[in-house]
Amino acid sequence: MSDQHLNSSSQCQLQIINEEAMNVLGAQLAALAPTGIIIYLKGDLGAGKTTLVRGFLRALGYQGAVKSPTFTVVEPYSLDYNKLYNYNKLQESLKLKNKIESVTGHKPENSHEPENSSLKVYHFDLYRLEDPEELEYMGIRDYLDGQAIALIEWPEKGIGVLPGADLIIIITHRNQGRGVELVSQSANGAEIVSKLVSDTV
Ligand SMILES: Nc1ncnc2c1ncn2[C@@H]1O[C@H](COP(=O)(O)OP(=O)(O)OP(=O)(O)O)[C@@H](O)[C@H]1O
Ligand SMILES: [Mg+2]
Repeated sequence: MSDQHLNSSSQCQLQIINEEAMNVLGAQLAALAPTGIIIYLKGDLGAGKTTLVRGFLRALGYQGAVKSPTFTVVEPYSLDYNKLYNYNKLQESLKLKNKIESVTGHKPENSHEPENSSLKVYHFDLYRLEDPEELEYMGIRDYLDGQAIALIEWPEKGIGVLPGADLIIIITHRNQGRGVELVSQSANGAEIVSKLVSDTV
């Protein structure tokens, strides 16, 4: 996060009615997130942070299990950005076609170079961290070197050591579903928020 980003705060509030819709939101973020972005995921135990990460990874073609890396702190994924072309299938399976129509059929504009379709995503869960210093020992800066996307659950546990976020996502229980607030902290984050808003209206 640099100084030029400080004026770019924007935010939006969404009502995410169920688990499927949370997966769709994750998929939309995957389509909009540029390489190097750092996303904090805040919310109580069971808020839906991992569900959102699962939707993000599924949209990039990852088929395996996605769980909070509570004990290992980080789970690395090496993914294929071209899998975003499979969105049509994702739409069908989620039966929420109108929700993600506008991100289908084209590559994410602000993603990494087209010739390199491999994308690294790191899913962090800092819940069990006893001291933010532990992040230094694990070489957090090598993970967040601008070449990967980081999705970080329980960022509060890493305060002081964890690099700042481009986008903060705050999930709260609301009615049967969840309220999701997205707050940008950088120009990259603001771009995601504005595109997400135009996608969901
Ligand atoms: N928008 C939603 N509406 C209703 N239920 C949801 C929604 N999103 C997720 N859930 C449900 O919430 C439960 C917990 O989700 P999840 O494991 O993603 O939470 P978490 O925030 O990662 O929790 P933890 O902090 O323990 O890792 C799951 O059973 C999931 O189906
Ligand atoms: Mg989780």
